Amino acid sequence: MTTLHSTLDSGSVEYTAAAEAMTTKLTEIGAEFAKNVAGGGPDKMARHRKRGKLTARERIELLIDEDSPFLELCPLAAWGSDFHVGGSVIAGIGIVEGVECMIVAPDPTVRGGTSNPWTLRKNLRMNDIAMENRLPVIGLVESGGADLPTQKEVFVPGGRMFRDLTKLSAMGIPTIALVFGNSTAGGAYVPGMSDYTVMIKERSKVFLGGPPLVKMATGEESDDESLGGAEMHARTSGLADYLAIDEQDAIRIGRSIVRRLNWKKQGPAPRAEVIEPLFDQEELLGIVPSDLKIPFDPREVIARVVDGSDFDEFKPLYGSSLVTGWAELHGYPVGILANARGVLFSEEAQKAAQFIQLANQSDTPLLFLHNTTGYMVGKEFEQKGIIKHGAMMINAVSNSKVPHISLLMGASYGAGHYGMCGRAYDPRFVFAWPSAKSAVMGGAQLAGVISIVGRAAAEAKGMPFNEEADAGMRAMIEAQIEAESLPMFMSGRLYDDGVIDPRDTRTVLGMALSAIHNAPIKGAEGFGVFRM
Ligand code: COA
Repeated sequence: MTTLHSTLDSGSVEYTAAAEAMTTKLTEIGAEFAKNVAGGGPDKMARHRKRGKLTARERIELLIDEDSPFLELCPLAAWGSDFHVGGSVIAGIGIVEGVECMIVAPDPTVRGGTSNPWTLRKNLRMNDIAMENRLPVIGLVESGGADLPTQKEVFVPGGRMFRDLTKLSAMGIPTIALVFGNSTAGGAYVPGMSDYTVMIKERSKVFLGGPPLVKMATGEESDDESLGGAEMHARTSGLADYLAIDEQDAIRIGRSIVRRLNWKKQGPAPRAEVIEPLFDQEELLGIVPSDLKIPFDPREVIARVVDGSDFDEFKPLYGSSLVTGWAELHGYPVGILANARGVLFSEEAQKAAQFIQLANQSDTPLLFLHNTTGYMVGKEFEQKGIIKHGAMMINAVSNSKVPHISLLMGASYGAGHYGMCGRAYDPRFVFAWPSAKSAVMGGAQLAGVISIVGRAAAEAKGMPFNEEADAGMRAMIEAQIEAESLPMFMSGRLYDDGVIDPRDTRTVLGMALSAIHNAPIKGAEGFGVFRM
């Protein structure tokens, strides 16, 4: 065993300042999450309850195993847009009858649970997660379908929702729709495309067109019940496989469907004995300095996240700005790549490329802990081949077939974000700490680049350069880039699957790894051509 040591002093001024800054950010994020939980506001909530209905969150709580955790994903989707925080849908991984399932529940109190562009992006992301990790999907359906004012953005790409459901089914991943209320128009294809459909007496309404639309289209007079009521679908159309008497009954039936799936995880089981880290996970609060220019040792994080703080470091003396090594997390083997001093040099890039190949050879999932300002620039480094070495790392990460998880702890800038498996490189999950920042480069650097380019252009034209306007422009751009780099902004755009409390890291990663192991774990047998 190679047990990590810690030099973190939780009584130090630095620790206290970092922990305070992190706590402030967590409070800010908590306030935004509260907006999600509040749904459509007190009036809409009260109306919903008066109708004798459970909220989307209560439905999830009843569905999952008692006292089991729910890994909520993308809870800040749509943050910073005109739409409700969370994208009007609650989604995540929950355990039903011992089976990890993807649960997706539109919030009917927010604009009738309709899908706006952010809802759609979140739903599609959930389908991808379900597909890659082989998670049965349970939809708790109550939605008015497309958000009509934004139909131009949801109609065409939205077709993928239904395609995904049947693709999942073809892959042997079960899909279950529990219909709590309206599921009209395009929404009717959710129960229509699911393997199992449960409807609730006098509650579910599933039709392609409601009475007014039918009247418009054909002149026929009709009513909700005969067009799409649960009884009709259970007895006449056959779209409902089960008829529930109320919401609780539908949830009970949903649970029994999962129990009968005879579900088997295809990945290897975790090691039986799991040893907790030797160091206090509470201290994860104060490791990242609020000024990301100050480096921190990622081994302090690893020591508080992996089993028994046991970490076998690979190539510790070579390319030391990137820490690589092997560990176990909740009993699952992982290879970890963690940035130590921000910049990636040629040595780090080559070390990463080798390490990723080794993980593929041993079918070991990879965890990327980001705190990088990118690959090193400058004459010396260009001449030593930083581009081709960075390309080696990006080749390895792109063609690696073992599951990847990315955690943005601090900076994640430039091509370093790519090499460390940013969102575009399809990690199975991406999480961010409130301290994370991600952009093409830092705000000051980006504003400085624009200023230098502007100065050179003015000189070339023989025009005077307006210093005052330039300073104003720089300040404005810097502020804009700063705002756009922050985790709430990134999470709002679904560039990550959630901003997490650093103290929950081990739990969140453990749940993610466990979900990942529903699918087989198999490394790549070939990579692209590595430039030497
Ligand atoms: N697009 C955008 N907004 C919609 C909407 C839609 N498809 N459906 C409902 N809303 C809005 C309503 O305007 C209302 O907004 P407000 O809170 O600002 O007043 C809010 O959502 C709640 O709607 P309401 O009708 O009061 O709620 P409800 O719970 O009684 O009924 C529906 C919800 C979804 C059953 C009902 O609104 C409905 O039938 N909508 C149209 C559904 C439809 O035809 N969709 C086409 C899909 S392709």
